[in-house]
Amino acid sequence: MRPDDYVFYRNLQKKYPVVQRAESVYVWDNKGKRYLDGSGGACVVSIGHGVPEILEAMMKQAEQVQFVHSSHFTNEQATKCAAYLCNMMPEKNLNKVYFLSGGSEAVESAVKVVRQYWREAGKPDKYKIISRWSSFHGSTTGALALGGHTARRRHYLPIFPYTPHIEPAYCYRCGFEETQDRCDLQCANQLERSILHEGPDFVAAFIAEPVVGASAGAVVPKDGYWQRIREICDKYNIKLIADEVMTGIGRCGENLCLNNWNIVPDVVVLAKGLSSGYTPFGAIVVKEDIYHTIQRGSGFFVHGHTYSQNPLSTAIGAAVLSYIQKHKLIERSKQMGQYLLDKLQDLNSLDIVGDIRGLGLFAGIELVRDKTTRTWFDSALQINKQIANQAFSRGLITYPGAGGIDGIHGDHILLAPPFIITEKQIDELVEILSSAITAVENQI
Ligand SMILES: Cc1ncc(COP(=O)(O)O)c(C=O)c1O
Repeated sequence: MRPDDYVFYRNLQKKYPVVQRAESVYVWDNKGKRYLDGSGGACVVSIGHGVPEILEAMMKQAEQVQFVHSSHFTNEQATKCAAYLCNMMPEKNLNKVYFLSGGSEAVESAVKVVRQYWREAGKPDKYKIISRWSSFHGSTTGALALGGHTARRRHYLPIFPYTPHIEPAYCYRCGFEETQDRCDLQCANQLERSILHEGPDFVAAFIAEPVVGASAGAVVPKDGYWQRIREICDKYNIKLIADEVMTGIGRCGENLCLNNWNIVPDVVVLAKGLSSGYTPFGAIVVKEDIYHTIQRGSGFFVHGHTYSQNPLSTAIGAAVLSYIQKHKLIERSKQMGQYLLDKLQDLNSLDIVGDIRGLGLFAGIELVRDKTTRTWFDSALQINKQIANQAFSRGLITYPGAGGIDGIHGDHILLAPPFIITEKQIDELVEILSSAITAVENQI
């Protein structure tokens, strides 16, 4: 066997190029080919690759202490990182941070902390978590069950917990066949109906991505959606969990994406941009009433992961958050995001581009067989992957996806470049993407 035959790859039939190095918005493979990172990997890299300040912070911490277990010690970097993070929250009472190693772990932790809270608050029947179709919350079985992506879920259905789902806020393909002017936010109202069906006394939380990412391609809800969702959660005493793994820490032009609508969740789930990919990292930020109820009750969150709160990851997280603040990168994400969205309008002239949407430096392009009828492609064609492959061969990294419409059908390309991207580089990105889409159009 060759050495790379021992690695269990994501796609078992694909040959991957070998990455050599990365700097700023570019990645190079070992053959010297350069790629523009148009998606920050999987919407991860926000501050850019190879930032010297972060590498220094990493080294400094590694020289002092890399690992101790959170059952034995706390560490200065964890307290520093938590303080940075809480200062970025929209309300002072969102002020307890539990550190983790990634998004799925963080989603599971959010669900568990809410569940334990209700038990300790004297409402042990509250256990159901409502989520949405066409969403993604991670790959561990609990998180996958909450997600609404049929193609990913169907293999594991027998081992999932019970998780009710509601329609997504997907204006381009409204599940209620409404138009923007007639819309009365039926998709949000469906949460109320679902809560009533499930029984408010049995519902613990609603979890959703403020703007849907991996499973549907930057689907932005109509203004008023999140306000209505918050009202419904309050009315029925249900916690709102914002899965900001993709959208948080500036990706959508604000500290949290929900700030775009002035909505404050009860639990925030973060990962990806939290460390900009410099280390596997995640966190939940919890409102203090949840924390205090557990503190005054059993005093112990029945949970724990080996790498939670480790000094090296928290040092990197603190350095990344400090760098973002120092260089005003969230403002930049908003500004460059508008430029990207404007520039992407150039793609409207292409036959298979159906919808272009986004918020901040988080954009999605939905591909259709017919623009007028919005008919989708046969999923077997894997149009999204064909386009991503064409782009990749031309030196552009994108994040393709499918299943936004019903969990199986619907193709999109997700873009989420580092916040430091320039206008010229955005022009380059759109130009390459345009030629990749045209190449696929010419083949079908
Ligand atoms: C919204 C959302 N939540 C959770 C996750 C899971 O994160 P991870 O892959 O770090 O486990 C993802 C990953 O793409 C995501 O997009």
